[in-house]
Amino acid sequence: MSAYENEIKQAVRTIENWPDEGVMFRDIMPLLQDAHIFRKLIDSFVHRYQKETVDAVAAIDARGFILGAPLAYELGVPLVPVRKKGKLPYETVSQSYKLEYGEAEIELHTDALKAGDNVVVMDDLIATGGTMLAACELIKKLDANVLEVAAIIDLPDLKGSERLRDAGFNIYSICQFD
Ligand code: PRP
Ligand code: HPA
Repeated sequence: MSAYENEIKQAVRTIENWPDEGVMFRDIMPLLQDAHIFRKLIDSFVHRYQKETVDAVAAIDARGFILGAPLAYELGVPLVPVRKKGKLPYETVSQSYKLEYGEAEIELHTDALKAGDNVVVMDDLIATGGTMLAACELIKKLDANVLEVAAIIDLPDLKGSERLRDAGFNIYSICQFD
């Protein structure tokens, strides 16, 4: 792990037993509160994708928006918000996915991407991978291509990145927590 990746990892705050007993919640808010770290964080995603052919950044509701918006701005490409159900006013495609308890659904406007667009999908964290996989399914429904899914944190024990890899997606995460 590089010094920079270590700096990001050290700045993640762990809250024990939140939101439920036994959960170690990895909180990215300290990374946003430190302007120097936030800049380095966004710059690292920009650096990774600036030489690639990226046509859009799809950012997942809600914490993915915080990262996806400055990335799209810096790359000079459209920002495509992937929203939780019932928030988008125009015609949508939707995809449901499993939560620990129950189901959720996310949506994209049908005109958000063009067929063949190369898309980076951005979120803060990959846990079970359900949210990222659902977002990738939406992108595929619009005949666009997922170049890579990107997150600050991967929790490999929850097997989300493995599920994404098995489904054929490239993954980039800055740090991992057991
Ligand atoms: C969290 C996180 C990811 C997702 C990861 O979002 O920001 O989007 O869960 O979990 P998964 O890999 O098991 O799907 P949450 O649904 O809590 O929404 P929020 O960003 O609105 O807080
Ligand atoms: N942190 C933030 N979001 C999450 C986590 C976590 O540890 N687990 C699932 N979603």
